[in-house]
Amino acid sequence: MTQTDYQKRRALVAKTLKAAGGGIALLPTAPEAPRNRDSDYPYRHDSYFYYLTGFTEPGSWLTIDSAGKTTLFCRPKDLEREIWDGIRLGPKAAVAQLGVDEAFSVDELDARMPLLLSNQAAVWFPFATHKGLETQVDGWLGKVRARIRYGAECPQSQHDLCRVLDEMRLIKDAHEIAILRRAGSISAGAHIRAMQTSAAMLRKPVKGAAHVVPREYHLEAELLHEFRRHGSQYPAYTSIVAAGANACVLHYRAGDTELKSGDLCLIDAGCELEGYASDITRTFPANGKFTPAQRTLYDIVLAAQVAAIKVTKPGKRFTDPHDAATRVLAQGMLDIGLLDKKKHGSVDDVLQSGAYRQFYMHRTGHWMGMDVHDCGDYTEPGSKPRQERDPLGEMVMKKPPRILRAGMVLTIEPGIYVRPAKGVPKEFWNIGIRIEDDALVTAKGCELMTRGVPVTADEIEALMRG
Ligand code: GLY
Ligand code: MN
Ligand code: MN
Repeated sequence: MTQTDYQKRRALVAKTLKAAGGGIALLPTAPEAPRNRDSDYPYRHDSYFYYLTGFTEPGSWLTIDSAGKTTLFCRPKDLEREIWDGIRLGPKAAVAQLGVDEAFSVDELDARMPLLLSNQAAVWFPFATHKGLETQVDGWLGKVRARIRYGAECPQSQHDLCRVLDEMRLIKDAHEIAILRRAGSISAGAHIRAMQTSAAMLRKPVKGAAHVVPREYHLEAELLHEFRRHGSQYPAYTSIVAAGANACVLHYRAGDTELKSGDLCLIDAGCELEGYASDITRTFPANGKFTPAQRTLYDIVLAAQVAAIKVTKPGKRFTDPHDAATRVLAQGMLDIGLLDKKKHGSVDDVLQSGAYRQFYMHRTGHWMGMDVHDCGDYTEPGSKPRQERDPLGEMVMKKPPRILRAGMVLTIEPGIYVRPAKGVPKEFWNIGIRIEDDALVTAKGCELMTRGVPVTADEIEALMRG
């Protein structure tokens, strides 16, 4: 990323503000978060802030006014602190390095912000994302108001800066796509490594060799090793490694459950690379060989994903992949008796009644980018709301779903989760399967950025035999 690219993004914010009547945007990065005494959680910058600066130091703020002037506040140089915590860029170097017009110590924030806000038509900041920010802005506006008799004018309105930045972030540029592809490829390698480790640990122990009971955390360790050795800074979210019935708990984390021969293992894990996420799920037999019941369910989920991928292309709606996947899943549930045809009727009846939700209770995807669940409107901006029935049967006003465009990135992640229940064939009990890939919408269709890891049952078995 050349600095001019960040400058271009900031210029676009200024232009958008200008078109909306002028004003000034202000944006803090994320705060540091203590974990326990003297020890913080690993620091992660704010995604919006990073998007406009490429700067990862805590304690930083950015303002952009509609005339295009940019001001950065950052931690001052401080030899004592730098000995303990590391080098700080400091305001003097920030001007050249980050290409902003001016930079000050964050110690001057409260004194300077009222001056920056004076005589601006409006103030833009991210609503409801930074604890206490509204109160801080109120305080600065109060100081501007106190100076009215000296000729200062107070901004007349406040707007949510997220609306501007969300639209920009929704369409990924070439620089972002290159990183997302690399992140996807590293994560794919990590899934391969976890599958191979599972197979190796479940192989018959060599006579005389110490036997280690294979557990979920062993596979998690392989994922983290692979992420980090390729330069990923952190996992994009807490890894899910779910053995057997744990896969039916949607937000299960990697624990210490034993990986047993005959059970499946579901891994949902992805690395974050240079501020960008990846998000992959694979489900595989711990010992490398699907049972017939597992294979039956697996092939249905895979067919659902294939159907969803087919309709992930420009001009389609965000909900089209979900609808396509759900139809395949519902038909599969009827075919194998998870849903009783006599009771539930045809596939259209099942889609209408929502009976499939007993086994498939989440959406088929979400935007992905700097945040694993990335920002961006899921409905089409500027469109008129229309009346629709919600899942509970209530009539609600809803805007039509977002139309997919080249440069958008979304996940495609259908699944089936079978909890033991009356009327459900026992052979499927406690099987949970999800298959998830990251799709970049291209000019004509989509590119799966995470297919470095096998996805068909045959390919997975071959990999685990190898
Ligand atoms: N890993 C989070 C998700 O799949 O949405
Ligand atoms: Mn996901
Ligand atoms: Mn996931």
